[in-house]
Amino acid sequence: MLFPSNNLLYTAGFAESPSERHLLLFVPVEGDPIFLVPELYGEQIREESWVPDVRTWGDDEEPNPYIERIAAELNLADGDLLVDDSMWAVFTQDLRAVLPEATFGLASDVLGDLRCRKDDTELQAMREAAAVTDETVRDLCDLGEDVVGMTEAELASEIEALLESNGGTGVSFETITGSGPNGAKPHHSHGDRTIEQGDPVVLDFGTRVDHYPADQTRTLVFGGDPNEEYREIHEVVREAQQAGVEAVEPGVTAGEVDAAAREVIKDAGYGEQFIHRTGHGVGLDVHEEPFIVAGSGRLLEPGMVFSVEPGIYLPGEFGVRIEDLLVVTEDGCERLNDTDRGWRC
Ligand code: CO
Repeated sequence: MLFPSNNLLYTAGFAESPSERHLLLFVPVEGDPIFLVPELYGEQIREESWVPDVRTWGDDEEPNPYIERIAAELNLADGDLLVDDSMWAVFTQDLRAVLPEATFGLASDVLGDLRCRKDDTELQAMREAAAVTDETVRDLCDLGEDVVGMTEAELASEIEALLESNGGTGVSFETITGSGPNGAKPHHSHGDRTIEQGDPVVLDFGTRVDHYPADQTRTLVFGGDPNEEYREIHEVVREAQQAGVEAVEPGVTAGEVDAAAREVIKDAGYGEQFIHRTGHGVGLDVHEEPFIVAGSGRLLEPGMVFSVEPGIYLPGEFGVRIEDLLVVTEDGCERLNDTDRGWRC
């Protein structure tokens, strides 16, 4: 049972944000799925979704009797129901009230495995989103010294405007322009700090094409020279990222990819400063299966898309992260990002 989410978009081809009105998709193990939606969505969903059976309830009605009728039709009374992982509690409470004998699990038990292997249409969208993002990195480099003196927030708006003009739709997540010491906080987005000569800037951003996101990171210096320590650390991260990418092929575990990247950073003496997993799957959700994390026995399969993004963070000084998305192929992997991985534009 799905509600407005990326699981619903994946399953039924309809994109919407959650709201207080009951908008549910029942997907039985056998037989056709049934939409139960607010009346005001009826026509829109019939047009946009490939699910033909769309039933509506009015704003002046209670939705639960409709749920009861569909549950009876699908024999759900003592069934095993898998509900959308992000379904709001108000809706799961209603389902529990209507179906007190049913057992409840999570939809990702089924959809997680389907979603993590991308088909050609999905891959095409992701290649295009990555290309738009790469084009934007090149445009940023063209700005060069003009970036010095901008605030992080100004640079983030500049990036977002470039992503749109290069063909993307919106952002995959809040744009990260972590300059100087802010770069040492991996998820610092952007603030009012002014970018100075010689500052390393962690640039982690992406946009969407046909709902599918890009996600890449480069750590650049726009003017002046960074110190020796930065240059050395940047090289370590670059080698770690390369080692992670080279470890990717079908049959290798996610944990082995993490280990390949982490090893390089540990050997250089910065193991304690690499404070996150090496990567995450990317699909309709920017963070999804497979997670490239230490100890994971998850086997990589062709069609999986994930990031390889090691980083080293020195609190109070700077951070360095380099990230590409890649897709597992029959005999290795294809990188979706291909801009220069050096620090100098
Ligand atoms: Co990422």
